[in-house]
Amino acid sequence: MKKNSKKWSERFSEPTSEIVKRFTASVTFDQRLAMVDIEGSLAHAEMLKKQKIISASDFKSIAKGLNQIQKEIQSGKFKWSIDLEDVHLNIEKRLTDIVGEPGKKLHTGRSRNDQVATDMRLWLREVVDKTIAQIETLQRATLTLAGEHVMTIMPGLTHLQIAQPISFAHHLLAYFEMLERDKARFQDSYKRINTLPLGAAALAGTSYPIDRAYVAKLLKFDSVMANSIDAVSDRDFLIEFNFSASLLMTHLSRWSEELIMWSSPFFGFIEISDGFCTGSSIMPQKKNPDVPELVRGKVARVNGHLVALLTLMKGQPLAYNKDNQEDKEPIFDVADTISDTLNIYAEMVAGITVSKESMEAAAFKGYSTATDLADYLVKKGMPFREAHGVVAKAVKYAIAQGCDLSELELKALQKFSPLIEQSIFQCLTLKGSVQSRNHFGGTSFTSVKSALKKAHQKLA
Ligand code: ARG
Repeated sequence: MKKNSKKWSERFSEPTSEIVKRFTASVTFDQRLAMVDIEGSLAHAEMLKKQKIISASDFKSIAKGLNQIQKEIQSGKFKWSIDLEDVHLNIEKRLTDIVGEPGKKLHTGRSRNDQVATDMRLWLREVVDKTIAQIETLQRATLTLAGEHVMTIMPGLTHLQIAQPISFAHHLLAYFEMLERDKARFQDSYKRINTLPLGAAALAGTSYPIDRAYVAKLLKFDSVMANSIDAVSDRDFLIEFNFSASLLMTHLSRWSEELIMWSSPFFGFIEISDGFCTGSSIMPQKKNPDVPELVRGKVARVNGHLVALLTLMKGQPLAYNKDNQEDKEPIFDVADTISDTLNIYAEMVAGITVSKESMEAAAFKGYSTATDLADYLVKKGMPFREAHGVVAKAVKYAIAQGCDLSELELKALQKFSPLIEQSIFQCLTLKGSVQSRNHFGGTSFTSVKSALKKAHQKLA
C-alpha cells in the first residue's frame, strides 16, 4: 500500500506492514456480516435523511449503491480486499466507488464500534430464530418416536444399573423437556440481543441530531441501548448465546451417549439407521455410531468457545477494544455447529428402530420391580426400611435361584414376609410396576399419554 493511503486515517505516514495487515484484518471471516451490515447502513442513512443530516438525494444514491453492493455480494462478484481490513470498510469503499461523494457521507454520526455491535445483534437475532425452529423440529421427531413407544418398557437406570421399569416414551420425553428449557433460554436471551447500539458512535454518542428510536424502529429492535459506552462494549449477548448453545449441546451429548450404548450389542435396544453410521476398514462386522459420537465430541468446541469469549472480555477496559474482533470466529462456529447438529439429530432420531423385546428383557432381568415389592409391604403396614431389608434378601435368593422375583413361588416369597399374598404378582410384573407410578410426571402409560398430549400442544 502506498504511503498515506490508509483506509481509516491520513494521520499515518508509514504504511501498515503486510504482517500487521494480515494480523489485524477480519474481512476473511466477518464478510459473513455483509447483509446485516448493509441493512444497518440503510437504516442509518434513512435516519440521517429524515433528520436532514444528509440530503434526500444523497440518501437515494447511498441506497442505490448499497442495493447494488448487496447484489454483487450475493452473486459472488464482490471483490473483498484485506487492504480494507473488515466488512465495514470494504462495503463503504465500494459504495464510494459506485456513487462518489454521497457514499462518503454514510459514516456521519457513526463509528465502526457501534456499527459492528449492531451487525452482531442483527446477525444473532436471525440465528436465534433459526435455532428455535430447529429445536422444535427435533422435538417433533422426538414426539413421533415417543408416540410409538408409550407402552414399550425399558429398564430405567441409575448409576447405569437397572433401577425400575419405565416407559421408553417417558425416557424420550425427558429430552423433550430439556429441549423445552433450551428453547426458553434462547427465547429469553432474545430481548437482550434485540436492543440497538447504533448512535453510540465511537463510545460517547455523537453531536449530530440523530434519532436512535427511529433507527430501532426501522431495524425492528425492541429498544435502544441506554448507555453509549455499554452499547459499544457489551458482548454479553454473545456469551449468553454461547452458554445456551453449550447447554443444548450438553443435552444432545448425553442423549448421544445413550444412543451409543443402546445401539451397542451389549444393550441391543435400538438400531441407528445405516446412513448415520459408518463401517470399519478392517472389521467387516462393525457398524459405528459416528454421528452421535461426533455430537458428543462437538460439545468440546462449543464449550471451548464459551471459555474463549468469557476470557476475551474479562480484562477489557471500557469501551471498545480491538480484542472484540476475536468474538466472531468462535460465535460463527458455535452457530454453525449447533445448526448442523440439530439438523442431523432430528433426522437421526426419526430413523431409529427400537427393539421392544430387548428393552423388556433387560428390564425383566434386572430385578427392576424390587421397589414394587417393598412398596407392597409398606402398604401392608411394614416400615419402609424394614421392607427394604426384606426385599434385599428376597432378591439375593432369586439371584441364587437364577430367576426373577416374579418367577418365585408364593410360598418361597412368604418365607421373607408373611404379609406377602397372591396379589403380589400384579406388582411384580413390569407392566404392573410401570402402571403403578400413575401421577403427574410419572411413568405410567396414562401419565405418559397425557404428557405426550401436552408436549404436542406446546409445539402447536
Ligand atoms: N472489525 C472490527 C471488529 O470486529 C470492527 C470495529 C473496529 N473498530 C475500530 N475502532 N477499530 O470489532
